[in-house]
Amino acid sequence: MHVLETRAKAPGKVNLYLAVGNPREDGYHPLATLFSSVNIYETVTARDGQEPGITLSLDIVPVSLVDQQHHVGEFDLAEVPLDESNLAHRAAVSMVQAHGLTVNDLNLHLHIDKAVPVAGGMAGGSADAAAALLAVDQYLYERRLTERTLGLEELLALAAPLGADVPFVVRAAFPLGGLAVGEGTGTELRIVELPEDMIPLDIVLVAASEGLSTPQVFSELDEGRAAGLYPEAGELQVPSGLLHALTQTEAPIARIHEIGRQLRNDLQGPAVTLAPDLETILTMDNESMVEAFVSGSGPTVAILAEDATAADELAAALRRRGRHAIATQTPAML
Ligand code: C5P
Repeated sequence: MHVLETRAKAPGKVNLYLAVGNPREDGYHPLATLFSSVNIYETVTARDGQEPGITLSLDIVPVSLVDQQHHVGEFDLAEVPLDESNLAHRAAVSMVQAHGLTVNDLNLHLHIDKAVPVAGGMAGGSADAAAALLAVDQYLYERRLTERTLGLEELLALAAPLGADVPFVVRAAFPLGGLAVGEGTGTELRIVELPEDMIPLDIVLVAASEGLSTPQVFSELDEGRAAGLYPEAGELQVPSGLLHALTQTEAPIARIHEIGRQLRNDLQGPAVTLAPDLETILTMDNESMVEAFVSGSGPTVAILAEDATAADELAAALRRRGRHAIATQTPAML
């Protein structure tokens, strides 16, 4: 048998808008969000394994945020489980079963190259799952264990039970799928069409020393709202003005400031309560900074900059101050 390898990559994300409603009976929160992919990717390689079933291995992408955390001992590869609790493993199992196959009839190895922080509010685990779905689908096809790869709708149906962010990240693994309104729990997607000459936003991502648990951040929002600490749930709708400003291709500077004014994240207050150090970055006084906001449930902070030079300078300044920072773009234009 020749050596077969298939590879897929999926980006991390920030939420440029995240309005959260009150919890439903199942504990999940209805929301209206604007997902925006970032130019930082998880890569999953599928190849023949040494033993029956699915095995996993993991590496850190050099100079990534995860690498910066690793250098100072704030990220340990051993923190990521390599058993069936790993979301990429679960994704692979669901893909194998979707093709009518049995996991133990295969020898499949998945290798993850990790660049997106763990528990950072950037959908790192979801990106592993999305890339695993795509890599395994292609592997099974090229191994001739199935006659076809899945269509997008079938992929999205497998993605939703894996987690609220997984469908978006699957969508963002394809060209021009990197900006989408998410409703329901985040799995009902409406892709925002990007003009070919769209100018992506330049941002700096600042990773924290320790992750935050998403369920804990949502609970803090519920409890804090009941205690009057955070504003009540408002309308669950992404403003059309924000979508308009994002997809405009003229007046770059004015447009970026307009976008900065319209950003919102209902999970930001709760994330800051649980990780008070975030306040230092959010309120930083720096002329390169248009607006700083927490990404999803945090603790990663995204800082909107006027252009790529400003973003590079800001990231370098933050690294000099001992922060884990990287300049990138959003949405990612594949
Ligand atoms: O779907 P996922 O596993 O990524 O969600 C992680 C946790 O985040 C859920 O268990 C739930 O506590 C919370 N969550 C929520 N409402 C959403 C999405 C996530 O309460 N819409």
